[in-house]
Amino acid sequence: MTLVEEIEQLKKEKNAVVLAHYYVNDEVQAIADYVGDSYYLAKVAVDLKESTIVFAGVQFMGESAKILNPEKTVLLPEPKADCPMAHMAEVERIEEVRREYDDVAVVCYINSTAELKMHSDVCVTSANAMKIVKALPNKNIFFIPDENLGRYIASKVPEKNFIFNDGYCHVHKAVTADMIKRAKESHPEAEVLIHPECTLSVLELADYIGSTSGIIDYATKSDKKEFIISTELGVLYQLKKNNPDKVFYAAGSVQICPNMKKVTLEKVRDCLRDNTGVVEVSEEKREKSLVPLKRMLELASL
Ligand code: 13P
Ligand code: SF4
Repeated sequence: MTLVEEIEQLKKEKNAVVLAHYYVNDEVQAIADYVGDSYYLAKVAVDLKESTIVFAGVQFMGESAKILNPEKTVLLPEPKADCPMAHMAEVERIEEVRREYDDVAVVCYINSTAELKMHSDVCVTSANAMKIVKALPNKNIFFIPDENLGRYIASKVPEKNFIFNDGYCHVHKAVTADMIKRAKESHPEAEVLIHPECTLSVLELADYIGSTSGIIDYATKSDKKEFIISTELGVLYQLKKNNPDKVFYAAGSVQICPNMKKVTLEKVRDCLRDNTGVVEVSEEKREKSLVPLKRMLELASL
């Protein structure tokens, strides 16, 4: 039996479903039942009929799926796959900002630990942050942990006062404006598609800014034939699959997330077979972090 056949058989035996983010290895995306951006995957996770969710992604994704589905078993094929940015904010700083600003809303990018979520008012992803921030009644917004996404949203919602936090995604921060300019010189006809975790100086060079799904949708619908991609290169799998006649260039060679790439087919098989990588969240943490996650799902669907 091949590895893929083994996984298919285990999925049936264990009543399991595989969710994968666009940044994981191609072969893992290929066997997943649902592949998407962080918002899509959080939405999908609440409506599944299967009793076990295998989350091919990083820790905060499995944790969010468990918070939203306490009655289900959530497995992480590689529990050590962790997003460094998810830890880049401090509860003490949140409390300090709350003391300083009466009406502040703590807006927490979903790329964060449950600990940070439980001290926040609402979660967002790159696909829904603008809509949610605009819908909040609060004038003051403390955006954690990602400074770059926060600054991008702030530039689009000038009526609000933003307080920033200095977290970042090392994969997106490594892309420079010079890299984009060089790629554009080599491919002058190409449109530049950029994820908002990149710095503002890079975003200024974009033809389109959006989440991983946004980038894939934009390229798929566009009449253009060439694109420069500035996000983690796992998106190339879906981009090429949807658009065999189009050409995609990486903005640089640095856009590989080492944590997403830790998830392999072998590890998907092993966690299903051995029931390993079980995600546990204490009841207190779960109840409190569920509040901003549910608020995100409600506000994003309006
Ligand atoms: P999206 O897929 O929501 O754009 O998120 C990007 C990301 O960095 C996930 O870790
Ligand atoms: Fe975290 Fe960046 Fe990797 Fe996404 S790409 S998991 S934000 S380090």
